[in-house]
Amino acid sequence: MASNGPSDAASPLRTSLPTHGRSAAATLGEMFQRKASDAEWLKGRTFSLVYPTGRADVDAILLEANVAYMFENALNPLKFPSLATMQREVVNMTSSLVNAPSSSGAGFSSGGTESIFLSVLVARERARVERGIGHGNIVFPESAHPAFAKAAFYTGLEARATSLSEDFTADLAALEAAVDENTVLIIGSAYGNPHGVVDPIEAMSNFALDRGIAFHSDTCIGAFVLPFLERLGIEVPPFDFRLPGVTQMSCDVHKYGYSTKGASVIVYRDAAWLQHQVFDYDVWPSGRYRTASVAGARAASPIAAAWSLMTYLGEDGYLDIMRGLVTTVATMKDGISALPGLRILGNPIGPLLTFTSDTDDIFAIADVMDDHGWHLNRIGSPNGLHMMISPLHGLYAEEFLTDLASAVANHGPSRGIGAGYNGR
Ligand SMILES: Cc1ncc(COP(=O)(O)O)c(C=O)c1O
Repeated sequence: MASNGPSDAASPLRTSLPTHGRSAAATLGEMFQRKASDAEWLKGRTFSLVYPTGRADVDAILLEANVAYMFENALNPLKFPSLATMQREVVNMTSSLVNAPSSSGAGFSSGGTESIFLSVLVARERARVERGIGHGNIVFPESAHPAFAKAAFYTGLEARATSLSEDFTADLAALEAAVDENTVLIIGSAYGNPHGVVDPIEAMSNFALDRGIAFHSDTCIGAFVLPFLERLGIEVPPFDFRLPGVTQMSCDVHKYGYSTKGASVIVYRDAAWLQHQVFDYDVWPSGRYRTASVAGARAASPIAAAWSLMTYLGEDGYLDIMRGLVTTVATMKDGISALPGLRILGNPIGPLLTFTSDTDDIFAIADVMDDHGWHLNRIGSPNGLHMMISPLHGLYAEEFLTDLASAVANHGPSRGIGAGYNGR
């Protein structure tokens, strides 16, 4: 059977299982040969997808925890009570970070997209049961992550995206105009991915509260950033359960919580709402089948890794990392703003930012950066280059800024690679 999936330079794409096995050395040799064509995130070349701390002790904990649980299955907590306890603790620790009230309930999921899916499902079910809504809609500023539109697609809801203000945060008037009696969920982001700015969560959630509509504060990025910026005395707009209108929040441990992939938490103001994300089936010959998230069999290592890292670092560990990150972000921001024509969009107060050029074609500058091996995401309206800065970038900020200065000074016409392209 032919396959059209991506290949690489190292070896041709296989289309069937090899007839005979081979040595471990040959197998792993080929794997690492293929891996050599991947982005060099360990050298600070990527600005999304991976969130490296650059700390050997952190990586060692993550490695050990992943290996210790790589064969277990988180589907059945009765067989692996250690997993159930660690999962409970990850969920509790994360909930407390975002000031969830004692009435709250939360679940573990595989990532931001699954947390968002569960949140949308719960909003739909609550609206059906409590308000009799059969064909609902969800309303979000267009900067919200596509996971919301995807969740609406999966759950049969209408997705309504509304325009942004000049500072790239949600335009309140546009949002309010899109809401009607069938709206089951309003969404704001802290941070929004495209520009790294925080929506006016307070005003948005107050509006939702007045209308009796659920409000999701998407802190997939912010949950492990904003609380620590606040503790460092940096002014942070309200974004969490301290706002009475915030009913649910998505919090990714696998982004700025620095755990390996597969770890996110969805938190609800009222633990009773969790029942709406549970699938309970009892007519199967094999017995009762009850799950609280999308997957059946579930990887156990993300739970072990998230729990180990969170308890290893603790508040002071995260604060230490945040202090360094704040310095790196300031270096990047100052360096970018000092270059002729370059301007940072909006007012990003954290580790995400997008910059554009008022004088040059920013995508032509990106082409030269590609040639230097830097993976900057190209975003549109307006055209810009997007960075999610991680602690590791502290080691490479000067090199990055030197290459950027040279790209600004010496670039040709753009090769015409459009927005949406994620590095080379
Ligand atoms: C603001 C925001 N929400 C949700 C997501 C989705 O998270 P994931 O990729 O873990 O599914 C992302 C991903 O970058 C994000 O930036």
